Amino acid sequence: MDGNGRWAKAHHRPRAFGHKSGMDNVKTITKVASRLGVKVLTLYAFSTENWRRPTEEVNYLMQLPIDFFNTFLPELMAENVQVKVMGFLDQLPEKTRQVTYDAMAQTANNTGMILNFALNYGSRAEITSAVQQLGQAVAAGQIQPEEINEQMIGQQLMTASLGQFADPDLLIRTSGELRLSNFLLWQLAYSELYFADVHWPDFSQQDLEQAFAAYQKRQRRYGGLA
Ligand code: FPP
Repeated sequence: MDGNGRWAKAHHRPRAFGHKSGMDNVKTITKVASRLGVKVLTLYAFSTENWRRPTEEVNYLMQLPIDFFNTFLPELMAENVQVKVMGFLDQLPEKTRQVTYDAMAQTANNTGMILNFALNYGSRAEITSAVQQLGQAVAAGQIQPEEINEQMIGQQLMTASLGQFADPDLLIRTSGELRLSNFLLWQLAYSELYFADVHWPDFSQQDLEQAFAAYQKRQRRYGGLA
């Protein structure tokens, strides 16, 4: 969800206003995606590198999940959306962590779209942690190094609970930047990539439908032949 800052600048407003508008658009796009039949919508809300931003901005971003769930939980329930959060949650401020855990608990029995927030998430740190887990299992004699396979690595990643949807079909990045920025590096191996030229606060239902239409024209070969 890139481009909140540039969107704010274009509107001669502070960066926080861009993030607030970005949060409002999370509400819009969540409902749109759910109604279009998306199974899992993963949103990159805060990266392990975003702590490098000024404290004031970090504090504001940490408040956003609190505002989001406090105002939007009834609609998430009405939409039958299940909330999940992946990331290094133990490093989040207590209140932010608590509100996300509460949202997960309250929506745990919902059976519709999974709304999966990546919060304090970084793919390299995720893979490092997975390697450490497997290394410990080897050291404890539970597995042999040569037994380690792709499934076992996938089981140690933060997307493991998404099961068959752990690897995204489609990645959308807004605001014209052509980078992955440490997002789901393992899981995106065969995902289709789509880059939208609008900043996140302006990313609309029409933009999402355009991305889906582009996806539908792609031919996914997974290294094989058509
Ligand atoms: C990147 O844009 C955006 C972020 C670092 C924050 C994204 C967060 C939201 C959209 C709100 C999240 C909402 C919830 C409910 C957690 P940027 O600030 O890097 O924009 P710029 O590149 O234009 O400066």
